[in-house]
Amino acid sequence: MSDRLNNASQFNKILMERFVAKGNVCVDATAGNGYDTCRLANLVGEEGEVYSFDVQDDAILRTRDLLTGEGLQGRVKLIQDTHENIDIHIPGEVDFLIYNLGYLPGGDKPIKTESHTTISSVEKALKIMKHGAIILVTAYRGHQGGLEEYRSVKKYFEGLPQNSYNVFEFSFINQKNDPPITIGLEVRGGRTWQR
Ligand SMILES: C[S@@+](CC[C@H](N)C(=O)[O-])C[C@H]1O[C@@H](n2cnc3c(N)ncnc32)[C@H](O)[C@@H]1O
Repeated sequence: MSDRLNNASQFNKILMERFVAKGNVCVDATAGNGYDTCRLANLVGEEGEVYSFDVQDDAILRTRDLLTGEGLQGRVKLIQDTHENIDIHIPGEVDFLIYNLGYLPGGDKPIKTESHTTISSVEKALKIMKHGAIILVTAYRGHQGGLEEYRSVKKYFEGLPQNSYNVFEFSFINQKNDPPITIGLEVRGGRTWQR
């Protein structure tokens, strides 16, 4: 049997599967190859909606192809714009957001997320999140600027008030070579956790 919990993506997937429900409104703030968008589109069902952002044509095309292949394109609004404009594109409240920082795998490395735009996007996202909504931000520390981006995002999350948000960090503390880390939060005041 293969490992079920040896990287940040597996942790993210477990949280998505646990907390994203049919009919939810979700955001993939960094579409990339479209894997998270596709997973969210499956989880929200026909009555749900996913807003998927990326600044690059290539990422939007890859995500569109993946969705079309799975017949999920009708549930997803693909937006070629910076996630800093999240408030302009999303009219209502959201249940779940995911950010995968860094650059598009196999793509143009200079086009990557930046801490100030990520934080500005998260600040705007907090204003449209429902009680019980969750954000996950996965930071890759290995590339140039990645460690600084992780530190800035972490500092921002650490400063959020405990009476409004449950803020956490998930990291593999015995792995070498700076593995990705997921930082996230739950907006407090949602429904009690059910088994
Ligand atoms: C690590 S990749 C995302 C991987 C993706 N989650 C997947 O499942 O394949 C990061 C993506 O963020 C995009 N990006 C960089 N800056 C952005 C911004 N300001 N707004 C939206 N997307 C951005 C990049 O173009 C890149 O495709």
